[in-house]
Amino acid sequence: MGSVDWDSRLFDSLIPLPDGTSYNAYLIEGSEKTVLLDTVDPPMADELMAQLEGIPRIDYVVSHHAEQDHSGTIPRVLARYPDAKLISTPKAKAMLIDFLQIPGESFITVEDGETLSLGDKTLKFIYAPWVHWPETMVTYLEEDKILFSCDFFGSHIATSDLLVNDEGRVYEAAKRYFAEIMMPFRCVIKKNLEKLAPYDIEMIAPGHGQIFPDPAFILDAYRDWILGPPGNMVVLLYVSMHESTKQMVDHLVAALVERGVRVEQFNLAVTDIGKLAMALVDAATIVVGTPTILAGPHPYAAYAVFLANALRPKTRFLSIIGSYGWGGKTVETLAGMIPNLKVEVLEPVLCKGVPLQEAFKALDDLASAISQKHKENDFV
Ligand code: FEO
Repeated sequence: MGSVDWDSRLFDSLIPLPDGTSYNAYLIEGSEKTVLLDTVDPPMADELMAQLEGIPRIDYVVSHHAEQDHSGTIPRVLARYPDAKLISTPKAKAMLIDFLQIPGESFITVEDGETLSLGDKTLKFIYAPWVHWPETMVTYLEEDKILFSCDFFGSHIATSDLLVNDEGRVYEAAKRYFAEIMMPFRCVIKKNLEKLAPYDIEMIAPGHGQIFPDPAFILDAYRDWILGPPGNMVVLLYVSMHESTKQMVDHLVAALVERGVRVEQFNLAVTDIGKLAMALVDAATIVVGTPTILAGPHPYAAYAVFLANALRPKTRFLSIIGSYGWGGKTVETLAGMIPNLKVEVLEPVLCKGVPLQEAFKALDDLASAISQKHKENDFV
């Protein structure tokens, strides 16, 4: 059940949705009880309510995650099925009361590992905190070996195909999704992956995007994004006002490529921040290119660095390049914005006005230093 959202292009007023998304709900009819797992974003509520028209009784509604896109339609579902109980973690209960004013007596809270019999089917609730809020859990349907994972393993894709049929497309969308909301919590998510390891999972049914009939594909991808070392790659995020910083960027990119280092370059005046987040999953080094304006970094550069700091990628090195007119505190300002990044800062290259031979030589040296650091760490 649920809704395919073909038209949305921005989530949380922040995250680009180039391929739309879907809000997946699942109805499980056991021999004795019927349960609805999650709902849809409130603007799509009519669609879910129409799908429920032929369903005379729902005994339980499960909220895996209190965010609106999964739980926002629960009040309408409970109004239609007043005898239904709402199942959640205790933390989710508190949030759902705060966000949706659902009465406390509607809830049954479950412990980690608790089971619920639907007659011939058994649901096991598994806490999975920080995917990507603290209250999240997933549900394992024991008889059918299906994991209902909500945001975990999700991807923002609108499609009429229920099952994954193009792994390349889903890999990219799932990686983008991981980068945007999961990456900051990857240490906890690693523990959640370990917790799921003993389960025999034949299918993963997430809350966004397509269902995985071959879960190994997405489980392997998550392990790689979380546990794998960064690649021999630089993410170069930059903005330029009068081409001086751009000349420096072009020179550095050529110097890095010459030394065998891959580069993903993002012009912050036009970039898709989701694509930038995705590149950060693998980047060993971040280079920020910015002119100095109003005595500090360009606001686009500050925005991107703020975002990178919040996303906490496994990046190991960082540097700053750019042109200034007469002075300023660009390096100090940016350096003060990255407390979450466990990076070694490599010698910045700032030049006054247009870059000349000395600046280009310093950029060559920076490229050599980056290449050397990547080699020393066996990043490939
Ligand atoms: Fe898809 Fe965190 O909501």
